[in-house]
Formats: sequence, C-alpha cells, structure tokens
Amino acid sequence: MPSLQWSDALVLDLPAMDDTHREFVDLLALVETAGDETLQPHWRTLVDHTDEHFGREDQWMQATRFASTSCHSVQHQVVLQVMREGIALAEAGDLDAIRQMARELALWFLQHAQSMDAALALHLRSVGFDPLTGTVAMPQVLPARLLHGCGGASCPDSETAEPVVQAACP
Ligand SMILES: [Fe+2]
Ligand SMILES: [Fe+2]
Repeated sequence: MPSLQWSDALVLDLPAMDDTHREFVDLLALVETAGDETLQPHWRTLVDHTDEHFGREDQWMQATRFASTSCHSVQHQVVLQVMREGIALAEAGDLDAIRQMARELALWFLQHAQSMDAALALHLRSVGFDPLTGTVAMPQVLPARLLHGCGGASCPDSETAEPVVQAACP
C-alpha cells in the first residue's frame, strides 16, 4: 500500500493547487507500487510533474509579492534537485534508492502541503488571486515589501535570513 493517500487532510480549498496535489499523490503511489521494470519511467513522470507543480507555485508566489528566494521556493529547488539525482541513481541501476526516496518524499509532502502550501493557499485567497488568469482581485492588500518567509505562523520573514535557514523553515 502506498505511504501517502489522498484525504481531506490534504485539501487546501484552492482547486488549482488541490488538483495538482491529488495528481502528485497518485503518481507517487504508482512509483511506490511499481515493479522493477516500470519504476524508472514512473519516477521520471513524477519528477516532470513535480517540476511543473513547483514552477507553478513559484510563479503564483512571485505574482503576489514573495521573493524568488523565499524559503518555500528554496525548498522546492532542494527537493527537485534530489529527485533529479534519483533519475541518475535509477539509470545506474540503484532502484532501492528510488524506493527509499519515494517513502521519504511521501513524508515530506504531507508536511509541506500542510505548512508551506497551506500558507500559500491562504495568502492567495486573501489577495483574491486567480490561478487560472494570474490576476489579483485585491492588489491593495498585497504586502508592501517582498516576503522572504513562507507566510506560515512559525516562519520568520527576514530579508537577512540566510538561505539555508530559510530552507529549513518552518
Ligand atoms: Fe504544492
Ligand atoms: Fe509548495
């Protein structure tokens, strides 16, 4: 059975984000239940989907006053880099590394969705952001300066925080 299954605990009430997250959970389940002969292509599909998923969220953040170096975007970069390294490991025949990575990814995603993505969904709704058109209905409530944290309650928003600190947040 896959480590991560879709449930109400993952719903963030932002359909564009929820749809992508549901797809992510389904693709990760395919990886976790794949036999050796299909593990590598399923992992590649998951990496490509995650590249688009993270890229879209990064665009939404930058459209609503998050710095491109916000801790949320930095975490995306770090995780995607590790996933790409997984492609190389699989090509070298190390399928156990992919299976281990998939289990860790399931744990990471649950935490990420419920913290950073939840904070982003709240922020996007608060400024009336439409993910389909990229428009902000209430630009007057956008933050006056760039946000460097992830917007979560426990996340510091310091322009001087070191990237490595930001990556560890929250
Ligand atoms: Fe996400
Ligand atoms: Fe995210």
